[in-house]
Amino acid sequence: MTTHEQEQDGAQQVSAVVVLAAGGGTRMKSNKSKLLHEVAGRSMLSYAVNAAEEVEPEHLVVVVGHRREQVEAHLSEIAPNVTTAVQEEQNGTGHAVQCGLQGLGELRGEILVTYGDVPMLTGQTLVELVQEHRAQRNHITVLTAEVPEPFGYGRIIRDEQGDQIARIVEQKDASPEEQAVTEINSGIYIFNAETLYEGLKHLKTDNAQGELYLTDVIGTARANDERVGAHMIDDLWQTEGVNDRVQLARMNAEMNRRIVEKWMKSGVTIQDPATTWIQADVDIAQDVTILAGTHLEGATSIATGAVVGPDTTLTSVEVGEDAQVIRTHGSFSLIGAGATVGPFSFLRPGTQLGAKGKIGAFVETKNAQIGEGSKVPHLTYCGDARIGEGVNVGAGTIFANYDGTNKSVTHLGDDVFIGSNSVLVAPVDVAPGAFVAAGSAVVEDVPAGGLAVARGRQHVSEGWVAKKRPASKAAGAAAKAAPEIHPDVAASREKVANRKPEEYK
Ligand code: UD1
Ligand code: CA
Repeated sequence: MTTHEQEQDGAQQVSAVVVLAAGGGTRMKSNKSKLLHEVAGRSMLSYAVNAAEEVEPEHLVVVVGHRREQVEAHLSEIAPNVTTAVQEEQNGTGHAVQCGLQGLGELRGEILVTYGDVPMLTGQTLVELVQEHRAQRNHITVLTAEVPEPFGYGRIIRDEQGDQIARIVEQKDASPEEQAVTEINSGIYIFNAETLYEGLKHLKTDNAQGELYLTDVIGTARANDERVGAHMIDDLWQTEGVNDRVQLARMNAEMNRRIVEKWMKSGVTIQDPATTWIQADVDIAQDVTILAGTHLEGATSIATGAVVGPDTTLTSVEVGEDAQVIRTHGSFSLIGAGATVGPFSFLRPGTQLGAKGKIGAFVETKNAQIGEGSKVPHLTYCGDARIGEGVNVGAGTIFANYDGTNKSVTHLGDDVFIGSNSVLVAPVDVAPGAFVAAGSAVVEDVPAGGLAVARGRQHVSEGWVAKKRPASKAAGAAAKAAPEIHPDVAASREKVANRKPEEYK
């Protein structure tokens, strides 16, 4: 696309965005750069970069200083095309911008400055700032806000007419009258390039903090009769920085509130917004139901009709249409359409449950492909498994995948039946249609359609209790016992005995 076409598109196209991110963040009390702390599962810095990208800058530069190795490594992962500039000593915001522009040559057009630690600021707000700047034909436009407690912020001092900004005065330099002003500088601005260069040349450190203030560029512009306007926003969260972990938690809560509200407005039923946590990269279809106490994280996606929760945490799990996931902890897994999971299931990475399949109560799975309609319903560890379609894995089955050194795979072919309390000692292959008797320890392959019985045969010593425990309660019960077996067991036995082989599905 040529620049001309983009202008016709209404696209923004600024020359550069400079993201200031060299500051210390000491109040976080962390070994990790402040900018890498997360809000709704994304680093604070990634929000700044994403917002900046929406004004389509030719250059996007992040000014780094404190813990810059960490910040640079993170940027190369999330935004490899972003460049960084180093500010060795933090001599103020004006100095930071000087550092940021150093490697870019002589720019024309407009330069936008923003911060790395204002995660709620949206790209849309930056787009509006650009539009306002152009509409007012300003040389500088400052993003401002009216706040109830302006302490600590730079105050916006308007000129007599009130439509332009005369200057910005920092808290520490402000007179009592200036401190009473409640319109504050967010620290986010757009400058015409020449105005910014001219102002940066004249910065001085003759202020309370001995820093080069970016805000002083306004004085130079006004001395040259250039227009300096304001773009005021109502959403105060967007200009809010994060300096400590108390603010971080507040920011996370508000971000989550907004995300949850967005999904409800798009047709997702959320039973209890207060206990539902949904991270920024999650995707949820219409007519999904999320029950209380559910955390959806990473790249989790939930298809229409699915019900998730209560008390479920899914990290990068794909849930298919109409699936049900109850009281489950899962990560990096796929759950097929119409499948059921839980309650009390633990899905570890590499679990792939086919359509209409089941992972039931107290089941742990890992690197387990479970085919369409197959069921692992109760009390099972299922690791390194390749399971075909229509398989039933009995209660208490263990896939013994680890011999103390190596992990090995178990394969169960289509329509295999594993009796309860069996151990499948990998590597082992149970071919399609084969049966394993309950209580077996399977160490050898089972051929298709075969029955493996791998346990001791039952032996009964008649009259053992009367002989060895003659005075016991058990002996009394045995003496009174009817000669017949329990009628329900008898009925079950008769049903099985009378069933013709061709009647089995
Ligand atoms: C600055 C503004 C103030 C505004 C406030 C909004 C100036 C002189 N003051 O205050 O008017 O109300 O932001 O939050 O600009 N940074 C660097 N290098 C530096 C100094 C700062 O990269 O040498 C970065 C910080 O990492 C941070 C941002 O710039 O992301 C703001 O720095 P901070 O010290 O918090 O702001 P103030 O200078 O106090
Ligand atoms: Ca400062």
